[in-house]
Amino acid sequence: MKAAVFHKVGDISVDNVPDPVIEDADDIILKVTSTAICGSDLHIYDGFVPQLRDQVLGHEFMGIVEEAGPGVTKVKKGDRVVVPFTIACGQCFYCQQGFHANCMHTNPEHYGPRGDLLKEKGGGLFGYTDLYGGYNGGQAEYVRVPKANVGPKIIPDGLEDEQVLFLTDIFPTGWSAVKWGKVKPGDHVVIFGSGPVGLMAQKAAWINGAERVIAVDPLEYRLEKARRVNNVDTLNADDDDLIEKIYEMTEGRGADVAIDAVGMEAKRNILERAKAVINVEKGTMKVIELCTEAVRRSGIISVVGVYASPYDNFPIHRIFDKFLIKD
Ligand SMILES: NC(=O)c1ccc[n+]([C@@H]2O[C@H](COP(=O)([O-])OP(=O)(O)OC[C@H]3O[C@@H](n4cnc5c(N)ncnc54)[C@H](O)[C@@H]3O)[C@@H](O)[C@H]2O)c1
Ligand SMILES: [Zn+2]
Ligand SMILES: [Zn+2]
Repeated sequence: MKAAVFHKVGDISVDNVPDPVIEDADDIILKVTSTAICGSDLHIYDGFVPQLRDQVLGHEFMGIVEEAGPGVTKVKKGDRVVVPFTIACGQCFYCQQGFHANCMHTNPEHYGPRGDLLKEKGGGLFGYTDLYGGYNGGQAEYVRVPKANVGPKIIPDGLEDEQVLFLTDIFPTGWSAVKWGKVKPGDHVVIFGSGPVGLMAQKAAWINGAERVIAVDPLEYRLEKARRVNNVDTLNADDDDLIEKIYEMTEGRGADVAIDAVGMEAKRNILERAKAVINVEKGTMKVIELCTEAVRRSGIISVVGVYASPYDNFPIHRIFDKFLIKD
């Protein structure tokens, strides 16, 4: 079959690779009908999340069940399903509480309670490096889906692929950003990053009753899209008066909720890049710093942007990995 294979930093190609096969009784093989590229894939491509051997990428996909193992009871051959990006056992301490990304049983090599850098992660993810279980992903014609009684959901008739595909990752991620931020009617919400996750967070903020939604991004075409599809106010991240303008738009207080939908690969100027080299850091947590400026006193900062390493010795990677500071 054909698949998008990561070889090394900056090197992904569509190759012929062996078809996946059933390995465990509760596996299915899915014929992929639609898949997407996530901002998180860029972290592998750019070398922020390391991967030393070839791997099929892709954690956002849906398709038709081609084959089901003997232990699969929830779906059958021919069913059309959408698959979330986390691989979860459904039974462990975390799965029982709905924290599927922290599953204790699907990343045997690298699962660890402490979230140590490059050693201990949460549960397995599709197509997301050996640190997250080494599973091949769905940017491929076929993909093996383990734990098929837990993740895959049957799609009701009448829905097009594009009406469903975003349920794999970016819609729930944008929704979680807003839920973790406890957005409520009347809130002013500023959302850094207007990529797919930012766009979904903007929609989720409106759905949850926000009074004003402000999108921030350095790329004008992304801000234009945010205005067109979500009717939000926009500010360019490169604007020298960015924070002042956010205060002006939020009655002088700052935003009730500030959301980071950017992560460690935020755009940086030459000084910020030089500082990272001196500190031996990859990327930056400048968007979290911007959130602290943009949010009002006693406000809430909600972070869904990915952080994979510490900055100024502050263990943001561990806080990210362990899903900390929320209730
Ligand atoms: N927590 C999760 O489960 C989860 C799931 C999906 C994505 N993510 C993460 O969410 C983030 C966004 O994902 P995406 O798919 O939208 O990525 P993306 O790369 O398409 O979008 C990121 C956007 O941030 C903008 N940006 C850069 N610097 C900025 C700054 N200083 N201020 C404001 N905006 C800035 C970029 O121009 C870009 O438009 C990534 O870090 C991704 O890894 C997390
Ligand atoms: Zn993703
Ligand atoms: Zn589990």
